[in-house]
Amino acid sequence: MTQLGSDPQRTQRTPSAERRLGVLISGRGSNLQALIDAIADGRLAARIAIVISNRAAAPGLERARAALIETLVLDHKAYGSRDEYDRTLARELQARGVALVCLAGFMRLVGIPLLEAFPDRIVNIHPSLLPSFPGLDAQRQAIEHGVKVSGATVHLVTGELDGGPIVMQAAVPVEDGDTPETLAARILVQEHRIYPEAVAFLLTGAWRIDGRRCVPCEPVQERRAKGESQALG
Ligand code: GRF
Repeated sequence: MTQLGSDPQRTQRTPSAERRLGVLISGRGSNLQALIDAIADGRLAARIAIVISNRAAAPGLERARAALIETLVLDHKAYGSRDEYDRTLARELQARGVALVCLAGFMRLVGIPLLEAFPDRIVNIHPSLLPSFPGLDAQRQAIEHGVKVSGATVHLVTGELDGGPIVMQAAVPVEDGDTPETLAARILVQEHRIYPEAVAFLLTGAWRIDGRRCVPCEPVQERRAKGESQALG
């Protein structure tokens, strides 16, 4: 398991307008609930400005309504093209000042208009240790492959399916006799733990992208200790 710590000083400096999240869902919304709960407990200093679902029947919408969060259904089938749909998503998210877009079981590929509107500002949770088992049915893929360890990955979204820079991972053992359902349930516990933590880390802004990697910036104190005080001012 890799965990990245956050820099509390940087968190405090982040203006609240930059802590607005937009969450995109298609179904159950248990990861949305994990974000709602983390905000309520004070583990995640953020506000969910809107929850958008491409399915009107997504149970996650009820979770959002119960938390008094604005909801919007944008049914992709009502749009002439994928780009038109993505442009609409981008417009709605930007209209609410969203700083970070969290995909939480959103069963749509994210296209260029949305990626360009939120460069390195779209994050996803996937139920495997990427780069193993991208795409659908990741838990079944892991069992059928015979791996002994799988897990969950939070990653930034790029044009490559489940292929963007990894922000955080948690490992989960695959037990003899696991079914996709039993493994999914064990992985989900870790998803709910690391997703809010990874979102909190991203909101600190104390990271950079280096090639394929999402790298935490060194805290200012450590850089000063290394004699970079002049450069830091
Ligand atoms: C989760 O397993 C997540 O990793 C994957 O889709 C599932 C969504 O579950 N991307 P939920 O809607 O958050 O309960």
